[in-house]
Amino acid sequence: MLSVRNLEVVYDDAMLVIRGASFDVPDGHIVALLGANGAGKSTLLRSLSGLLDVHNGAITKGSVTLDGEDIGSLSAPAIARHGVKHVLEGRRIFKEFSVEENLRIGAHVTRRHLREGLDRVYGLFPVLHERRSRVAGYLSGGEQQMLAIGRALMSAPRYLLLDEPSLGLAPKMVEQIRDIIVEINSQGTGVLLVEQNAAMALSIARHGYVVETGRVVMDGPAADLLDNDDIREFYLGARSDSDETTSYRDVKQYRRRKRWAS
Ligand SMILES: Nc1ncnc2c1ncn2[C@@H]1O[C@H](COP(=O)(O)OP(=O)(O)OP(=O)(O)O)[C@@H](O)[C@H]1O
Ligand SMILES: [Mg+2]
Repeated sequence: MLSVRNLEVVYDDAMLVIRGASFDVPDGHIVALLGANGAGKSTLLRSLSGLLDVHNGAITKGSVTLDGEDIGSLSAPAIARHGVKHVLEGRRIFKEFSVEENLRIGAHVTRRHLREGLDRVYGLFPVLHERRSRVAGYLSGGEQQMLAIGRALMSAPRYLLLDEPSLGLAPKMVEQIRDIIVEINSQGTGVLLVEQNAAMALSIARHGYVVETGRVVMDGPAADLLDNDDIREFYLGARSDSDETTSYRDVKQYRRRKRWAS
């Protein structure tokens, strides 16, 4: 299990952006992290994958553990060797290299594992096999996202951290990415999924956490969150009731809206 406890993260020695967050990603589960822009979701993923230091960030309190072992102070390559792989927001691939070269770069493994990795990735993403010799920069946005995920899978991670994989993709492609995440998970990989598309994330996650200004303010089974009025209103774009509501409820929701939107 991946666990974060009472975590605090500071950027530039000054800016406290994670303020005592705790959450778990059990082995083989899909867990969703939801939250408004700037809430700290990407920072939490960086804390798990050892990428804070390249952003001049640091853990100042709390812990990040994998099966009880502290990984919060390890380097990104060391954490990757422990089986935790982070797919960054924005499909960072090597655009001038071919699809297959991108996958080979993701591997850092022996020849046999390279072949196994390629077989797995091409099995999951037949379109990448078709385009394996093509320069990656010419792939569509969705295909580039597949390649970014495929590259992370080359080292057969136990946990995949996905930062907004559906961002900017057409609905059909979002569905494909969603199905792929389910399939990757069904092969045994745990997934921590950061998504703006809360409906998508909660439809496949087992558990969800809502992050607000660096704190976890709500969590629960994904099915319960999908039913929650606030989640529905703020993340799923649904009005929870008619216009003629009690004033208390309005005020309470207005406060929450302000808090979540700030
Ligand atoms: N490299 C950095 N240096 C300084 N501050 C940063 C850095 N990266 C993020 N921040 C700040 O930390 C806070 C959390 O940012 P983060 O990117 O983790 O949020 P997020 O929830 O991923 O937002 P988004 O939905 O926009 O991706 C924000 O206030 C942001 O401005
Ligand atoms: Mg982010």
